[in-house]
Amino acid sequence: MFKSYQKLVDDEADGDEKQSLAEQICAALSAHASVEEEIFYPAAREVLGDDADLVDEADVEHGSAKDLIAQIQAASPEDDHYDAKVKVLGEYIDHHVKEEEGEMFPRVAKSDLDLDSLGEEMAARKDELLAELSGA
Ligand SMILES: [Fe+2]
Ligand SMILES: [Fe+2]
Repeated sequence: MFKSYQKLVDDEADGDEKQSLAEQICAALSAHASVEEEIFYPAAREVLGDDADLVDEADVEHGSAKDLIAQIQAASPEDDHYDAKVKVLGEYIDHHVKEEEGEMFPRVAKSDLDLDSLGEEMAARKDELLAELSGA
């Protein structure tokens, strides 16, 4: 979605199109972040022991991303720095995903956490949140 957004910027697409994609990005990330914060991070924190500082870092990164998401949701594409905010959000997420996938997930995978049942719980909660966000 971030790549598609950049393409809209490069093609000088109109504001409505950019705003609708930016809102989809914000909704998808908000649901994903909430599910991690509610379910995955607490479970990871318990099994990571000394590596739980990875979860602290992830919490802070979620905080920065959520700040930027709130700024984007409160702005419109005509406002200064709108495209830059979406771009920097993508950069934050890139960094965050690299660390989760490269550092946190491998350590959690080595623990005895039941990832299948955790995954099911997360998927169900995410569906619920996305339904709420879309006003269903
Ligand atoms: Fe995360
Ligand atoms: Fe980081």
